[in-house]
Amino acid sequence: MHPMLNIAVKAARRAGNLIHRATDRIDQLTIAKKSHADFVSEVDRVAEQTIIQTLLEAYPDHAILAEESGRQGESEFVWIIDPLDGTTNFLHGLPQFAVSIALQHKGIITQAVVYDPVKNELFTATRGRGAFLNDKRLRVTKRVQLADSLIGTGFPYSRFEHLDAYMAILKDLIQKTSGLRRPGSAALDLAWVAAGRYDGFFETGLKPWDIAAGCLLITEAGGMVSDLSGNDTYLATGHICAGNPEIHPQLLQVIAPHLTAGLKGN
Ligand code: IPD
Ligand code: CA
Ligand code: CA
Repeated sequence: MHPMLNIAVKAARRAGNLIHRATDRIDQLTIAKKSHADFVSEVDRVAEQTIIQTLLEAYPDHAILAEESGRQGESEFVWIIDPLDGTTNFLHGLPQFAVSIALQHKGIITQAVVYDPVKNELFTATRGRGAFLNDKRLRVTKRVQLADSLIGTGFPYSRFEHLDAYMAILKDLIQKTSGLRRPGSAALDLAWVAAGRYDGFFETGLKPWDIAAGCLLITEAGGMVSDLSGNDTYLATGHICAGNPEIHPQLLQVIAPHLTAGLKGN
């Protein structure tokens, strides 16, 4: 394993174990509201500090971009961290959440970890070396027809400027696929595309820490990732479409007629 991935795995496991242990005392947690339907608990913050501490202990000169504490440091190496992706699920006792850690080097994502502490599933990738679930090499699905496909997504939940376009896309996809799922952790959704559990995924308005790791997992598993217009602005815009190489263009085709200027990603 690449030494930087090894450290990221150590950090993700530490945070994941801490989060998992906290599921027994959710009703005692201190919870704050960041904005409409957007919550943060003490567990998110402690998990994030644990991750940052582990990474900086090994690589003190690296920079950090983390959901709860923001940016720190200046370096060509930037760790992009979501300590708990799926906080709403976690706070309701729904067992679908994960830790997401990616390393960006000179603007390119080179290492990725998504860890599901409930199922003890560790998704990892190093650029050019493939994607893995625990020790098993991952490949995206081989399904070729959108009509046979299972697609993951996330509903807009806090900001609603793209809601009408999103609903129009959803309406089309409900009729043109085998099914849609909204489990509630974008990092895991993307990992599941890499693992061949979904044939594709789309969502609007995500943040870099939701998707940085998951995107590398998908490309290393042979899949495609783009923004909703098929371009590569997804890390900046948060509008994202992913899938196996057959399904990804078919998803884009369904999405295209519903794209507003704001969703085009320029
Ligand atoms: C959220 C989850 C969810 C997605 C939201 C994200 P959080 O992350 O990834 O699936 O639909 O857009 O914000 O807030 O639980 O870290
Ligand atoms: Ca998140
Ligand atoms: Ca989070």
